[in-house]
Amino acid sequence: MARTALITGASAGLGTEFARLCAHDKCDLVLVARRRDRLETLAAELETAHGVKAHVIAADLGSAGGASGLVSELRTRGISIDILVNNAGFGTCGRFVELDAAREMEELQLNIVSLVSLTHALLPQMIARKQGWILNIGSTAGFQPGPYMAVYYASKAFVNSFTEALSFELRGTGVTATVSCPGATKTEFASVAGTDSSRLFRMGASSAADVAREAYAAMLAGKPMIVHGLKNKLGVQLQRISPRAVVRMLAASLNRPPPSSKALPG
Ligand SMILES: NC(=O)c1ccc[n+]([C@@H]2O[C@H](COP(=O)([O-])OP(=O)(O)OC[C@H]3O[C@@H](n4cnc5c(N)ncnc54)[C@H](OP(=O)(O)O)[C@@H]3O)[C@@H](O)[C@H]2O)c1
Repeated sequence: MARTALITGASAGLGTEFARLCAHDKCDLVLVARRRDRLETLAAELETAHGVKAHVIAADLGSAGGASGLVSELRTRGISIDILVNNAGFGTCGRFVELDAAREMEELQLNIVSLVSLTHALLPQMIARKQGWILNIGSTAGFQPGPYMAVYYASKAFVNSFTEALSFELRGTGVTATVSCPGATKTEFASVAGTDSSRLFRMGASSAADVAREAYAAMLAGKPMIVHGLKNKLGVQLQRISPRAVVRMLAASLNRPPPSSKALPG
């Protein structure tokens, strides 16, 4: 029987690439995001190209009932999941105190709470079948505090830590958990976060297809964690041995928008 992969945030960026990789491997798909039109276009494309079944479920995973509503919909449609890609996420940029509180809560709900809810809901059936793959999208942002993107960096620290711990607990069950840690990547992320002009993105960004391919291979190999690209691997090691004050300052300088755009003093 064909495997089924659920991909959150499949309407853009890395999520679309994960959907393509799973379909190429003949997995049926459950494509999730808010923009139904984009999901339907992608579903039609992948069904035609690969002969798989692609279900579309439009859901707002940044709202409190989003993840539980999605799980109910899976039950109603009788779909069981073999591969869970918790990819949907966004960032916000600016001084924490000046950012919209509701948007910060939505960020935590999407990046953390929905990811944990979906994992908790779908794991038991994977463990019962003694087979399953979980791929969570963390970030190199999760290895240090990120002034001017404080909530985003902290949310990714959660995803990195949670997934590594989960992968340990799952040893011997036939189910694996992998966290993918990309650095700056060319998707809609930067424009949503308002960081297009930050030094981090001006320094160059990886292609979404390359990052997704590597993350997908790491997931299939059952690796607990993958940091993408030599520059990012070196950066992660360097921040581990650097004084914390330097680490904070460097992250702030990478995230701070240039003075010509939205000025953030200090
Ligand atoms: N790009 C980078 O530089 C980078 C670096 C490290 C980690 N990441 C992580 O990679 C993951 C994928 O991001 P991306 O770079 O591919 O960004 P993207 O192009 O902006 O895609 C984000 C996806 O998340 C979905 N999403 C956003 N809010 C949602 C909500 N409330 N409910 C359901 N889905 C929602 C979006 O779909 P809708 O708008 O249609 O809902 C979209 O499909 C994120 O977790 C991000 O934090 C990105």
